[in-house]
Amino acid sequence: MEFIKCKNLEELGQLCANEFKNIIVKKPNAILGLATGSSPIGVYQNLIKMYKNNEISFQQITTFNLDEYLGLKHEYEYNSYRNFMNENLFNAIDVNKNNTFFPCKTSDLLDSKKDYSDYDKEIANKGGLDLLILGIGSNGHIGFNEPGSSKNSTTRVVELTSSTIKDNSRFFNNNINDVPKYAVSMGLQTIYQAKKIVLIVVGESKKQAFEALKNHKEFNADWPCTVLANHPDTKIFYIEN
Ligand code: F6R
Repeated sequence: MEFIKCKNLEELGQLCANEFKNIIVKKPNAILGLATGSSPIGVYQNLIKMYKNNEISFQQITTFNLDEYLGLKHEYEYNSYRNFMNENLFNAIDVNKNNTFFPCKTSDLLDSKKDYSDYDKEIANKGGLDLLILGIGSNGHIGFNEPGSSKNSTTRVVELTSSTIKDNSRFFNNNINDVPKYAVSMGLQTIYQAKKIVLIVVGESKKQAFEALKNHKEFNADWPCTVLANHPDTKIFYIEN
């Protein structure tokens, strides 16, 4: 893991977007793994700028998002991760939306036994993720791999912990009961198989998880982010609080 300290959000957004640009310029049909949430927004804004300046094109790009809510109430459909990506990136670039994938639809019925591992197979069939961008939860989750997740987990139904539900309630008028309790998420193994990973760590609430990441040299299921400890090409962009 390489730790890169950034002066501010602006610098962080630019540096992470450059990681995308380097890949896309070398491989115009790259396979990208994408995150939602507050952390990557500045990166996506920089990617949009690069696209508008004709520095990069997404015409041949394929994307796989990390996760999607299950059982989102109809009035909160705007909070679906599909909608987030449309609003924050896809609508502003030349990506073919038929090549943008999510592990489930928010309208899928909750079936904890349903097998979602075809998502991993689709990623592998396309040659694997060339670059995956991640945020981190205050409890150390990456994707929605909550504490206790197995290192060998693949894409599956996950139950969100109360801390994640509380963290995400800010998008649901602070109403904890309206936050979905389940999602489908890439697993830790799916994430680990990405050729290159960029992790963003910003905010006071991430301090403990960040410490855990720095201090663990091996995977510890209490802090799912530690799966990155042995990943061959992970860069962690952070701002010191
Ligand atoms: C989002 C995701 C989550 C977030 C994490 C941090 O697709 O998988 O792991 O990256 O919860 O969220 P923010 O960036 O909103 O603090």
